[in-house]
Amino acid sequence: MRTKKHQKPTKRPGDFYYSEAKQQGYLARSVFKLQEIDKKYRLFSQKGEKPIFVMDLGCAPGSWLQYVLERLRPQDRVLGIDLNKINFSDNRLVFIQEDIFNTDPQKLMDAVGSTEGFDVILSDMAPKTCGIKMVDQERSIELCREASKFALKSLKKNGLLVIKIFQGPDLKAFTSELKNDFTDVKLFKPDSSRAESFEIYLIAKRT
Ligand SMILES: C[S@@+](CC[C@H](N)C(=O)[O-])C[C@H]1O[C@@H](n2cnc3c(N)ncnc32)[C@H](O)[C@@H]1O
Repeated sequence: MRTKKHQKPTKRPGDFYYSEAKQQGYLARSVFKLQEIDKKYRLFSQKGEKPIFVMDLGCAPGSWLQYVLERLRPQDRVLGIDLNKINFSDNRLVFIQEDIFNTDPQKLMDAVGSTEGFDVILSDMAPKTCGIKMVDQERSIELCREASKFALKSLKKNGLLVIKIFQGPDLKAFTSELKNDFTDVKLFKPDSSRAESFEIYLIAKRT
């Protein structure tokens, strides 16, 4: 994987996870959230020689992609999509700069050469926050609904879905919606997620 050395992890300095990300060469402190989710829910369990396919929705600046690439084997593939560019490459990574609302899941499967779909779909997508809690939560839910639509069209049976959501009045309804098409729906707040942040992660398995 080639990353630009001058790139620094995002977010404010002075917290433990920011310093750790910087020291370990990750592009964002968010990497530790995925690391915790993976430790608890074992997201990348490759069996046999068949390649596995991972999709990372809202992947920029790319710390989750860095982590995923560490977990993948040479034959596995990851597709990242974001409104913003990323500044590194790897021969197992396909990056598409696009709005997910204008993207076709089939096109993303084709881009990585997967005929059956993805084994894992990650979404750390977040809206541009305006500071009005209700509005930010509504925008977050819209992204979550789009991510789950993607998963319905392109996640393999028993594949895992991880979605970031801003906690609010719609969380319960969205969780129930997910339960129509997914099992083992769990909520998880990683220790590395700031206590004051109302983000939380949903982990679900495709039925
Ligand atoms: C918190 S960041 C993701 C951080 C990333 N997981 C990492 O580790 O580097 C959220 C990302 O979601 C992206 N995003 C928000 N809305 C999007 C949309 N409609 N389509 C694609 N990406 C979107 C933003 O551009 C932003 O880069």
